[in-house]
Amino acid sequence: MTVVGPFGLRVRDQALEADVQAALTAVEEGLVEATKSTVPFITEAAQHLMHAGGKRFRPLLVMLSAQFGDPHAPGVVPSAVVVELTHLATLYHDDVMDQAAVRRGVASANANWDNSVAVLTGDFLFARASQVLADLGPEAVRVQAEAFERLVTGQILETAGPGAGDPVEHYLEVIAGKTGSLVAVSCRFGAMMCGADEGVVSTLTQYGERIGTAFQLADDVLDIASDSHESGKTPGTDLREGVATLPVLRLRAHAASSRGTAADRELCALLDSDLATDEEGHARALALLRAHPALEQARRDTVRYAEEARAALSPLPDSAAKAALSALCDAVVHRAG
Ligand code: IPE
Ligand code: IPE
Ligand code: MG
Ligand code: MG
Repeated sequence: MTVVGPFGLRVRDQALEADVQAALTAVEEGLVEATKSTVPFITEAAQHLMHAGGKRFRPLLVMLSAQFGDPHAPGVVPSAVVVELTHLATLYHDDVMDQAAVRRGVASANANWDNSVAVLTGDFLFARASQVLADLGPEAVRVQAEAFERLVTGQILETAGPGAGDPVEHYLEVIAGKTGSLVAVSCRFGAMMCGADEGVVSTLTQYGERIGTAFQLADDVLDIASDSHESGKTPGTDLREGVATLPVLRLRAHAASSRGTAADRELCALLDSDLATDEEGHARALALLRAHPALEQARRDTVRYAEEARAALSPLPDSAAKAALSALCDAVVHRAG
């Protein structure tokens, strides 16, 4: 059993491991090339988060999905560069929106420079992703453009809030948009570029959509449950920004039910207050949520989506790649604790 890529996926098959490892190395080279500018400051800003780390979850999905055809087909590595560059760009923008100070264990671009540099560097990375994408043909361009629209819509819906709608449904719509979309495209690109048939492309796209949701759910649990050493981000960023993720939504539903206690309702009131300016209140809310059964409930929700992702794989023929995609469901759940 060998660990493949920074996500820490364990793969049993040696040939698959060597193949994916080599492709991920080629993706790193592609990322370095695509983030170089003739202006040294742009290169510095664009490579700041690229060199800082990251799990390369999306390129890994491209490579595993490309095993259902010719994994060495010419579009496979560039399509992984496109999805990782797009993801990287959204991180620059997301940290501005979330006023996050730390990303991938280093200062976010907005903290290191300022919001303008972070926004423009994100735009630069989108431009470079488009240039790599252009060589992959009009269908790939359309697939990516549609996913990008969904991603941005998810981010906007998160900012707008649920309004009078059901908050859990709204949250699930937000995460399917902001995260499920690009994770699904990662699987779709891998399958498309390797020449897999339509049925396989569709199966892997559905798997991607579901594991993308599970991945974001796990990340939202981690925002509450982890320390920054584990996540490379500042814990409790969602609470500070007043973004209600599933643990908070589960808590609110519990507090409003007949089983809700006075302490539950007090915690809800604390979460509704401005925690961005109240360090002590933020620390207290984080500690109380960590100990609350609502966090466990959100972990169970993560498991459910990961199991749906695994179930989506069933039409695929048994292979080492299918086993690795299934193992990825366990790895995503494991992250949530
Ligand atoms: C962070 O994505 C934003 C989410 C969709 C949860 P990743 O967790 O893939 O971030 P990196 O690439 O590893 O930094
Ligand atoms: C991640 O947003 C989604 C995108 C960047 C499109 P989050 O705000 O939930 O992710 P983190 O916690 O900052 O990584
Ligand atoms: Mg964020
Ligand atoms: Mg965000």
